[in-house]
Amino acid sequence: MRVSTTVVQAEPVRLTFPSTFWWGAATAAYQIEGSVDADGRTPSIWDTFAAQPGRITGGDTGAVSTGHYERFREDVKLMAELGLSAYRFSIAWPRIRPAGGHGVNAAGLDFYDRLVDELLTAGIQPVATLYHWDLPQELEDTGGWTSRETALRFADYAAVMGARLGDRVAMWNTLNEPWCSAFLGYGTGGHAPGRRGHVHALTATHHLLLAHGLGIEALRAAGATGTLSVALNAGAVRPLTASAEDADAARRIDGLLNRIFFDPILRGSYPADTVEDTRDLTDWGFVRAGDLATISTPVDAVCVNYYQPDLVSAAPAGVLDHGTCYPTAQAVQFHPTPGPVTHMGWSVDPTGLRDLLLRIRRDYGDRPLYVTENGAAYDDRPGPDGDVDDPERIGYLRGHLAAVHEAILAGVDLRGYFVWSLLDNFEWAFGFSRRFGLIRVDYATLERTIKASGRWYSEAITHNGFDL
Ligand code: NOJ
Repeated sequence: MRVSTTVVQAEPVRLTFPSTFWWGAATAAYQIEGSVDADGRTPSIWDTFAAQPGRITGGDTGAVSTGHYERFREDVKLMAELGLSAYRFSIAWPRIRPAGGHGVNAAGLDFYDRLVDELLTAGIQPVATLYHWDLPQELEDTGGWTSRETALRFADYAAVMGARLGDRVAMWNTLNEPWCSAFLGYGTGGHAPGRRGHVHALTATHHLLLAHGLGIEALRAAGATGTLSVALNAGAVRPLTASAEDADAARRIDGLLNRIFFDPILRGSYPADTVEDTRDLTDWGFVRAGDLATISTPVDAVCVNYYQPDLVSAAPAGVLDHGTCYPTAQAVQFHPTPGPVTHMGWSVDPTGLRDLLLRIRRDYGDRPLYVTENGAAYDDRPGPDGDVDDPERIGYLRGHLAAVHEAILAGVDLRGYFVWSLLDNFEWAFGFSRRFGLIRVDYATLERTIKASGRWYSEAITHNGFDL
């Protein structure tokens, strides 16, 4: 029998984005700045945590990192070379209010002022995050996010930043991924400040949300002209099977990952089922009259950071797994999604991003949305010519941008996308062992090299789209 194969060469499909679409890249202060003692900065919880043996892979710290504090002008030039329309960075709270005190550190403010001006001169929209996990250590010493007072101090800090940069920052994120701050920082202890306990995590969640609401109010009162928002690490939570038990496991994780943030911010209430699921741990007495009105003060947009979907099932008796970070009434098991994974071990599945964007519109209304982080770590290395060829990262970005495009075609008001990250940087508990950058950083010389993925992204920006 003869078998013949006809190879049909498919025509490439061109994906074009809206003309006002923001093509961005993101970073965070502690992950890139270094210069931790410069110009009056005081320690954050990450300086303290990273100094503790066994916390960070390789004993790495952010003391030097990419040296961005010294090299920010060079980095803005690289952003301009890539053609970015927007750059998302975070402000280090301990540079602005040393030791968490009430004084304002002029040198710290000046740094971000210069950065914003440099960006604007280069034609790049500045997007500022107020809290990307670097709490002043002194505020942790008085309870950190388990203390209500921390939210009030955040509001003061937000007012200072709004007054100084409010005329020029195009978009603000009050908080970055408060789930991580609460559940990893105060639940599992895998992130700074390294405290462990389900009740701490839930208490911190509420105070972070309160800080967000107070922060939005403070920015508005300061006359900030940019879009006011918050960046949530929302996920697409999927049940492993069609069983009622797995559907319930997905509901519980969706409650503790997504709805515990979206509902209070966008609807002014906590999800009743999640409150019920955690009743045996806490009576939620940390929620005071008026808090939910503050938390739900209107935002101008919703920002999400997406990396991978979550596949969950009801756990057989005795299996806890992520039950340690999710205080679920019954144990839940997390499963790897079949298919490729990144150097973080995270599955590559752009359908999760599309589903998440559609779900936000379905459940929370038609609002302006931004993907403020998406990207992948790969163990890429320079070749003999010094070039970094990172085809997997190009594949990851192409797939996820196609998912974003699909959501836009389906009617989602998606206005921008930010690659995590502009530069290789300090990946929290993984130290420098994981590289997410469009630009490689040689940590011995601090030399920067645009990777092939950076050049691919730059081409996509030039054409406001790409061939699929
Ligand atoms: C989300 C965090 O916001 C960012 O700081 C981190 O580096 C990336 N995810 C990758 O883990």
